[in-house]
Amino acid sequence: MSRDQYEELRAAFTASVSHELRTPLARLLTLLETAELPGADVSALLRHARTEVEEMTELVDDILFLSELEQGREVVALGETEAAPVLRAAVDECLERAERAGVRLELRIEDETLHLPLRRRMLRTIVENLLENTIRYAGEGATSTLSLRREDGALVLEASDDGAGVPEEDAPRLFERFFRSDRARTTRGSGLGLAIVKHVVETAGGHVEARGAKNRGLDVRCSFP
Ligand SMILES: Nc1ncnc2c1ncn2[C@@H]1O[C@H](COP(=O)(O)OP(=O)(O)OP(=O)(O)O)[C@@H](O)[C@H]1O
Ligand SMILES: [Mg+2]
Repeated sequence: MSRDQYEELRAAFTASVSHELRTPLARLLTLLETAELPGADVSALLRHARTEVEEMTELVDDILFLSELEQGREVVALGETEAAPVLRAAVDECLERAERAGVRLELRIEDETLHLPLRRRMLRTIVENLLENTIRYAGEGATSTLSLRREDGALVLEASDDGAGVPEEDAPRLFERFFRSDRARTTRGSGLGLAIVKHVVETAGGHVEARGAKNRGLDVRCSFP
């Protein structure tokens, strides 16, 4: 990448970050102004304001995490983690939320002894993002399978659901920062989850890929040679 291209990318990133931060701040300001009006339901507004602040904090955490990763400060690849217990714990933690969303979670582990070339926290980051997406976007009645297996000499960690999916042409773009497919724009989220997943996987020497089609579900596949 040339210096100009790099600078252009950086400028675009900074612009999207500012936009992402400004939106919740504007909403917060509106809430505060509304609270000053006579007869305002102050405690409801405060509750709402608290949610806004919590979401903004998450966004800032994600952005900081991503930029740490890019500067190589988080040594992603260092170490190896026995994957099965991490996957199982993450699925257990999500069961209740999945049930509320009407999504059935399945776990398929081919070999309990498989290790992935990642530190535990990084593996957890990947799995949590994939599960969270499935629960948020697959839609009621979907089944989502998290699987770990060996395939042609590579280790494959995959989250695959038969839910709402995304238009086929969007699939390769899901790993871009702040990219969100149409349907998702009505829900909360910043479009950073899969960018983080991609960065972690690639820093660990792996490769990510998304395949899907509208109403035919989504497969997100992370492979480690
Ligand atoms: N399982 C899925 N089914 C359908 N669409 C999905 C699924 N997973 C991801 N997507 C689409 O990919 C987009 C990008 O996902 P990503 O995790 O990067 O961001 P997000 O979930 O929108 O926000 P964040 O993860 O930062 O809270 C989502 O907005 C959604 O449109
Ligand atoms: Mg997400």
